[in-house]
Amino acid sequence: MGIGHTRWATHGKPTELNAHPHSSMNAHVVHNGIIENYGELKKEFSENKFLSQTDTEVMVHLFDKFFEETKDSFQAFEKVIESVDGAYAILLITEKDDGKIFFAKKGSPLQIGTEKGEVFFASSDAPLIGLASEAIYLEDNTYGYVTIDEIKVFENGQETTFVKKALATSKFTAQKEGFTFFMEKEIYEQTNVLNDTILGRVDSEKVLFDEIDDDFFVGIEDITICACGTSYHAGLTASYLFGRLAKVKTTVEIASEFRYKDPVLRQNELFVVISQSGETADTLEALKMAKKAGLKTLAICNVDNSSIVRESDATLLTRAGIEKGVASTKAFSAQVTVLWLLALYVGQVKNRISLEDLKKEIKAIGKIKDVTKVDENLRNRIHRLSKRYLHGHGFFFIGRDLFFPLALEGALKLKEISYLHAEGYPSGEMKHGPIALVDSELFTIALMPETLLYDKTRSNVEELSARDSTICAITPTDFDLADDLIKTAKTNHPMLEFFEMMIVVQILSMEISIRLGNDVDMPRNLAKSVTVE
Ligand code: G6P
Repeated sequence: MGIGHTRWATHGKPTELNAHPHSSMNAHVVHNGIIENYGELKKEFSENKFLSQTDTEVMVHLFDKFFEETKDSFQAFEKVIESVDGAYAILLITEKDDGKIFFAKKGSPLQIGTEKGEVFFASSDAPLIGLASEAIYLEDNTYGYVTIDEIKVFENGQETTFVKKALATSKFTAQKEGFTFFMEKEIYEQTNVLNDTILGRVDSEKVLFDEIDDDFFVGIEDITICACGTSYHAGLTASYLFGRLAKVKTTVEIASEFRYKDPVLRQNELFVVISQSGETADTLEALKMAKKAGLKTLAICNVDNSSIVRESDATLLTRAGIEKGVASTKAFSAQVTVLWLLALYVGQVKNRISLEDLKKEIKAIGKIKDVTKVDENLRNRIHRLSKRYLHGHGFFFIGRDLFFPLALEGALKLKEISYLHAEGYPSGEMKHGPIALVDSELFTIALMPETLLYDKTRSNVEELSARDSTICAITPTDFDLADDLIKTAKTNHPMLEFFEMMIVVQILSMEISIRLGNDVDMPRNLAKSVTVE
């Protein structure tokens, strides 16, 4: 019997002393989440009891205290859970009750995997596959204990029932398959992944989603999208698509902001959450808020059975496969693809897109596969160019319209793995402040698609060039003012240019990161799945 947890440092530095499990005289605990009232709870004990700076450690000292009072380990554990506020997935073991693992869940993901003679805990399916054949997805506010022979789940002091669900049997671990980094593999994989994302969801003149009932959009006038990080950028991209293709007003919110702004929610809006992992705490809580307010909810997610999928009324899976690189690539492109399809679907069911336009869009969707194929010449060119972009005092990624969210995403990719300062801006905003930073050591990565507002973007880049910014233009046309030019292939659709340029910014950030000698797949201070607020 053992417990362990890889920790994302919310309280205290990432040091060995702060690493879990935390122990006291009688107990050992691991915890994912945040104990919000730990400061208050700690006051009961003398400071020298605490070895770590974590919020977690207080639980074992509380356990000791309650065990002293009750002489019963389960009652003591129950009292610990009653005392703590916040979000948690907790496992606790004690020498006083050998052979039992106590657990509690609220807000953070926790599931039990079972196999003959074995019991496991995990926060998602992935680590359990190959080890367990069935899983119990624990509900919030449940707690209990397991032994090798029994599983007891409680809620509000009463024992409660649970359902076991079959887990996938084949172990689908991701391998690097000859690539040096997972991120690299995932960039190259996109051409196939996006094909899977589209599979069965279009015919020549129709978008089909088996996952959504025909009347799902009846009564829906507006859309609110809520997400974090890269998924938020996919949401911003979608807001342009929903507006143009389905004539639906779409608001995009960062989940951590949305939760505390007392949002105005109306019954005629669909609440869409986007999440690769399906476990992001802020996105999950925002979803719960929307549900509580009675809104219809839809998840765009990469992980089936994840907390967000289970919580939503309907789900469109992105089918990107396991993404290992912390900097998201294929999950982003799969999200954008699903959202593009969804915009067309809404346009179609609401009769807001002509058949002719719909067919054109579907034809373009069929070409995603081609434009996301990594061209080795392009890769080599970016590799060579990248050596010129390892210093400087910052990067501006700029673009207009659909290419503004892509500029944000490009800047995010670069800062995540190169640790260089990069910001994404709408090109037209330069003159309202950012241009003050411009000099030759300020690198501009200009997204200059030919099919969307080329002249407007071009003038904005000219303004930067006039102030001596070093310009790297990503564009299918020649552009004299560029210091460096990364030429993309000509296409006839802005979204195809979007995907082409997405590949370029992904590779550019990776090449810069490699040259700087950073850990491409596991950048400092970041986690793949952020299950704490
Ligand atoms: C973390 C990851 C990002 C991701 C964000 C949202 O910060 O490092 O790559 O975009 O979480 O994650 P989600 O799983 O909800 O898409």
